[in-house]
Amino acid sequence: MRLDKFLTECGLGSRKEVKSLLTSGKVKVNGEIVKNPQSNIKENEDKVEYNNRVLEYSKFRYYIMNKKAGYITAVEDPREKTVMELLPEWVIKKELAPVGRLDKDTEGLLLLTNDGQLNHKLLAPKSHVEKTYYAELEKDINSEDIEKLENGVDIGGYITMPAKAEIIGEKKIHLTIKEGKFHQVKKMLEAVDNKVIYLKRISFGKLLLDDMELGEVREVKVEDII
Ligand code: URA
Repeated sequence: MRLDKFLTECGLGSRKEVKSLLTSGKVKVNGEIVKNPQSNIKENEDKVEYNNRVLEYSKFRYYIMNKKAGYITAVEDPREKTVMELLPEWVIKKELAPVGRLDKDTEGLLLLTNDGQLNHKLLAPKSHVEKTYYAELEKDINSEDIEKLENGVDIGGYITMPAKAEIIGEKKIHLTIKEGKFHQVKKMLEAVDNKVIYLKRISFGKLLLDDMELGEVREVKVEDII
């Protein structure tokens, strides 16, 4: 594999960016500084270092994004803008797909991976991955409604599983669910005669949105997910 491709795939930047890293002499292959982006390396054998840190090449990649509103969660769409358009150049897009779905108007944590098996596993109804949402509501919510949300509400013929709900401010809640039914949070709030006016996912399994900027993308490790 070409060295510039390898460095890009390790997340060091675009081809253009890694070219300038190479020129600055910050990359070593088997202990020797290499400046030529076209030099060939054996990605699973050679020791490639950047700033004296060994770079690991792996087949599966995991990225988290703070999704912006206005983008649909799909790999492609003939009409709408998709979350793939929010990915920076250094992200390796080959076979990358979002895990689950956030509505077009929902913001927050979205995981994307080329690891199809894990994607499938995380979405399986049995997987029960906890997802926490921050929701702003149209109306005040009381402890009775919170209890209903926690015990399960009817969202069109389906009773939701036990959840965690917490009032965190005026017309603001955190809701943690273990399922991922279509429009689930919005429907749950409708079931208690309220309405979500703003929705953001703040965690998915062990992954946290934390201080990520809107539209920001980070690479994560598989062990950081669940
Ligand atoms: N529940 C919703 O209603 N919308 C989302 O985007 C995610 C969960």
